[in-house]
Amino acid sequence: MQLGYAPVFYLAAVLGLEAAMQRECTIIQALQDKLAYQRRLQYMKHNFPINYTVNVHFQEVLRPANITSLRVQRVGEPSLRFLWVSVNVQVLKKVLAVLPEKHPSWEYARDLFHLFEHLEEEYNSYDQGNVDALVWDVVEQGLFANAGSSWKAVRPKALLDNCAKVMWLLYGALCE
Ligand SMILES: *[C@@H]1O[C@H](CO)[C@@H](O)[C@H](O)[C@H]1NC(C)=O
Ligand SMILES: *[C@@H]1O[C@H](CO)[C@@H](O)[C@H](O)[C@H]1NC(C)=O
Repeated sequence: MQLGYAPVFYLAAVLGLEAAMQRECTIIQALQDKLAYQRRLQYMKHNFPINYTVNVHFQEVLRPANITSLRVQRVGEPSLRFLWVSVNVQVLKKVLAVLPEKHPSWEYARDLFHLFEHLEEEYNSYDQGNVDALVWDVVEQGLFANAGSSWKAVRPKALLDNCAKVMWLLYGALCE
């Protein structure tokens, strides 16, 4: 390759990333709206029986503390976002699996699931090669391999509370 092409490729890559980031932020804005406290309360608590829980893998309980600890271990921000997206696709699948289509929370959960699926597509096309090994381990062991992973009973609102809190942590500054 001639040397003169390098800056052009670099520019194209940067512009591609920026466009991807903008698409990501548009989805995040929709998620922020959906994940507003009153909606989480209504759809993930009031519409469910008292103390109802959903069974998820330990790795699917992704709290702000996990992010803090992974940042200390120098896991990069794109990898953390990838982890959050992968975890919540699985979480929403599990929430949807316990809801009949006529349940008053079904549409809400399905809309959230679709937004996360869109985010996942963004990651599949751009970031996969850059995902930190530590995050791959968590994703592969926890989310894709059922054997050997332990389960935890968690209230659906708690799952979405984690989802929202980690979203602010990861995207707060990025998608102003
Ligand atoms: C729900 O859980 C709380 C503690 O978390 C407990 O005090 C309460 O009795 C439970 N209610 C029912 C109906 O199981
Ligand atoms: C988050 O931390 C808890 C323990 O504090 C752990 O069980 C869980 O697997 C962690 N989740 C991820 C995705 O690393």
